[in-house]
Amino acid sequence: MSSKIKAKISAVGHYLPDYVLTNKELESLVETNDEWIRTRTGISERRILKDPEKASAFMAAEAAKEILEQRGIEAEEIDAIIVATITPDYMFPATACLTQTMIGATNAFGYDLSAACSGFLFALSSGSALIESGQCKKVLVIGSDKMSAITDFTDRTTCILFGDGAAGVLLEPSDDENGIIDHILHSSAVGAESLMQEAGGSRNPATRDTVENKKHYIRQEGRSVFKKATEGMADVSVEIMKKNNLTAEDIQWLVPHQANLRIIDATARRMELNPEKVMINIGKYGNTTAATIPLCLYDWKDRLNKGDNIILAAFGGGYTWGATYLKWAI
Ligand code: UT7
Repeated sequence: MSSKIKAKISAVGHYLPDYVLTNKELESLVETNDEWIRTRTGISERRILKDPEKASAFMAAEAAKEILEQRGIEAEEIDAIIVATITPDYMFPATACLTQTMIGATNAFGYDLSAACSGFLFALSSGSALIESGQCKKVLVIGSDKMSAITDFTDRTTCILFGDGAAGVLLEPSDDENGIIDHILHSSAVGAESLMQEAGGSRNPATRDTVENKKHYIRQEGRSVFKKATEGMADVSVEIMKKNNLTAEDIQWLVPHQANLRIIDATARRMELNPEKVMINIGKYGNTTAATIPLCLYDWKDRLNKGDNIILAAFGGGYTWGATYLKWAI
């Protein structure tokens, strides 16, 4: 028997703001319509964190509290917190540090991870490595994004897509064959110009010009990102299936990043998966960036069985893309 430590997901938690921004309300902000949004993206509504005093760390902390409650442990037992986000509360200190203090995880260390819509998968890989190495016994991996903070609500090509939210998991050592088995991660800056927030970093610090020219908002060339995302998410999902000798019959669930229903459908088709095996909640929350995949796990948690073969897959800004293969362990 192998002595290698394997990480498992032992609890899931989430936070969604109360305010529901419907397609109908967006019709009053930009020239768009409910039918266009639903047929082109699959989105009907999304959540918005209205309170200006609250941001990604607050949402991550609320998700973390639910995870601790689900698992029945105290915050002091947590060894590490990784927050995947592209909307940190500040450039520094890290959102993970703020989250840590909000929940009272006084024995933990924390750091943020920036991989846009693939952020949760990249963070899951890092968190798993902390468990597998023996360095940590309990790691919180949370995706939290307040996308409304970087969304231009006069740009109809982006403001219809995104929503706010957070969700995450607790990782612990597995004591059986279930747990996180494999990751494939990719990145390339060939698409950097197609999907970015241009200002606010060290290349373009905030100036009157950056603010007036709306460079602190998301800018996306939808069509080119769509093409790359469709190829990338499907390719990496098929790649991880082949690497682990999995057929469509072996897989119980696909948990895809929720950017566009058409991208999700294309990935499921390439995997030859029955549509009933695909988690889809984009209609309710839109694209919450790093939170989409754990929000799906949260919504489906009562339908998952121990030993289920699950593929997580994502594509996003960077570009970044990847897939994870795990056996559900709860
Ligand atoms: O999560 C990170 C990665 N991001 C993604 O994966 C997003 C990938 N991209 C997409 O999901 C899609 O490209 C969008 C949903 C963003 C856009 O859908 P599309 O089918 O690619 O539309 P398009 O950009 O080709 O635009 C088609 C038409 C254009 O009008 P013309 O030029 O044909 O007259 C747009 O101006 O639709 C127009 N349009 C809209 N019309 C109504 C664009 N946005 C809207 C809108 N309402 N909100």
